[in-house]
Amino acid sequence: MAAIEGKAMDGLSTRDGPKVDFKPRRLGHVNLYVGDLNSSTDFYTNVAGIELVRREPGIDAVFVSNGNTHHDVALMQCKGGAVRTGRGGYVQASSFRGEVSGLNHLAWEMHSEAVLVDKLKTGTANGLEIKFSADHLISHSAYIEDPEGNYHEFYADATEDWRAIFNPEREDLVTADWDWQNIEAPLGPLRPDPEDKRRVEAALFHPRCVTRAVLAVEDPELTDVFLTEVAGLTRVDEADGVAAYCAEVTAYDLLIVPADTVARPGLVGFSLMVEDEFDLKRSISRAEKMEVDVASVIDASHKKSAVVYDPDGLAVEFYHPKEADGLRYLPEPGGDPFWIFDY
Ligand SMILES: [Fe+2]
Repeated sequence: MAAIEGKAMDGLSTRDGPKVDFKPRRLGHVNLYVGDLNSSTDFYTNVAGIELVRREPGIDAVFVSNGNTHHDVALMQCKGGAVRTGRGGYVQASSFRGEVSGLNHLAWEMHSEAVLVDKLKTGTANGLEIKFSADHLISHSAYIEDPEGNYHEFYADATEDWRAIFNPEREDLVTADWDWQNIEAPLGPLRPDPEDKRRVEAALFHPRCVTRAVLAVEDPELTDVFLTEVAGLTRVDEADGVAAYCAEVTAYDLLIVPADTVARPGLVGFSLMVEDEFDLKRSISRAEKMEVDVASVIDASHKKSAVVYDPDGLAVEFYHPKEADGLRYLPEPGGDPFWIFDY
């Protein structure tokens, strides 16, 4: 990937892409197509330990969150191309995807609606293609496709009281069209109650929030251009086709690995941070009793972690960071399939 360094430094690119530079705050959530919504809901609530905050049966979706934001993970039943309709007949972006389980989209939280609208205006003036824009009531979003067909949602929170909309009592449709081009006074930064955190005590793991994802791609260089020039992420480290990227408030949010080092392109897995290393050790020791197979345990100087496969074979890592200066950006490539989580 040495060529990428050159491209970034001299501003040249092998691909004429729009310069948008969204510069999101952080990875907000991952949205997954799942083979069986009930099995996945059971896994993410009772094993992964993320509270169910919302069902949306009209589109076969479930949302889970421990209060860090409105949802850390969204689960959508694979429907083989069946149209998902939202409020007012709005046809959702997910209608045209999701033939098989895997990533629907990575969602990047923007500083505010005002910043998001500004980026969309300058981006589209520079040739950015917005696949869909949506009003999710809790957030306003635009969906952009990367060079390998992965969707990235850039969104801004639309209310601080998201629990009024995302709560288990409500099951009505959420999404409608968002007319971002005609907003007179876009919202500034919003901050939901930072104290309102949840913990699914009976679950095996007790994560705080989603923090990182691992994406396998066919062409890391083309993806790099998208991530740095369109998404506006910062590449913090790279070697041998593996690269780590960060948004603004976390150390890093996304690891890109070449598809030929894992089974297939697409989302390989993601990481959930737990608050307490002792609690994580307890979770690992209780796993057998709860008949959960922990596929890998990493006990390194920079973190303690456990990897569990979800019902669709996605790797879900639960980790607790150790010394901040022990943070590692890149994994050590190896024969063990879990090498990608050694970061
Ligand atoms: Fe989303």
